[in-house]
Amino acid sequence: MTEKSTEVLGRDLGLGLGLRNVHFEHILEHWPAVDWFEAISENFMDSGGRPRDVIRRVAERYPVVLHGVSLSVGSTDPLNLDYLARLKALAAEIQPAWVSDHLCWTGILGQNSHDLLPLPLTEEALDHVAARVDRVQDFLGRRLILENPSSYLTFSHSTVEEPAFLRALAERTGCGLLLDVNNVFVSAFNAGTDPQAYLDDFPFERVVQLHLAGHSHRGTHIIDTHDCPVRAEVWELFARAWEATDGAATLLEWDGDIPNFETCHAELLKARDFMDGPTHAAAPAPLAADGRDAVSTPVDFMSPTAMAAVRGDQT
Ligand SMILES: [Fe+2]
Repeated sequence: MTEKSTEVLGRDLGLGLGLRNVHFEHILEHWPAVDWFEAISENFMDSGGRPRDVIRRVAERYPVVLHGVSLSVGSTDPLNLDYLARLKALAAEIQPAWVSDHLCWTGILGQNSHDLLPLPLTEEALDHVAARVDRVQDFLGRRLILENPSSYLTFSHSTVEEPAFLRALAERTGCGLLLDVNNVFVSAFNAGTDPQAYLDDFPFERVVQLHLAGHSHRGTHIIDTHDCPVRAEVWELFARAWEATDGAATLLEWDGDIPNFETCHAELLKARDFMDGPTHAAAPAPLAADGRDAVSTPVDFMSPTAMAAVRGDQT
């Protein structure tokens, strides 16, 4: 049984899992020996019922992080202050170790795409996003953590590489970074670039948290499905990132075809095999492309109630 620390929570939380409703019963019954949980903010901020009760009880025993998918910090729409108010209220109640979202935009002109869309990376975009991060942090009264997105295209008019963009954003705003090493691999494969070169330039000193996840390799492209075990190449990136961040909090995302809790936890604990650095890690053989349909983005598994609320907020 885990007792929640009363100390200020740093980035060394250990190994965590996503708090998913299919695991609620197991968690409440067994209080498993997981270091911490990450909750999708939108799945809990609009619920006064069971999900809110569950996250309250979980937060009494474990460190919890709130991870959002609807901030749309890159959009040119006005910031959704109602959304931010509900996020702030949830954070006040749960007292998360930190609040995170993505370097992306999710919609425009009040229309929500329900996907995490990449930005053209330019100086103009940096000015725009930095100003919005400042406003979000002022509103929430806490530091924001932003994640590198997975992407399927690049913009021909981008002038800044993503690691440099995130470095500048963190330096200008004081925000922290969430480095998703699966997203690094997915985006690099889809763009035909080298994921190790991406890490060469990444500002690891700004990283608060790491994400691991599985993806669907479709031969010509990769879809960020979060519905299978972590691939060997991603474990290699994790080994390097974990060493470079001196052991940043690490979380496994599994959001489609979610197996039982023990299977997710066992996959998470494989991370221990890669904590001696990339040269010492014994990587498993790469898995073949499985050809399964893409079923999940972080938005797809949001509860119907939360989805409706988010849609309502932006219309
Ligand atoms: Fe992620």
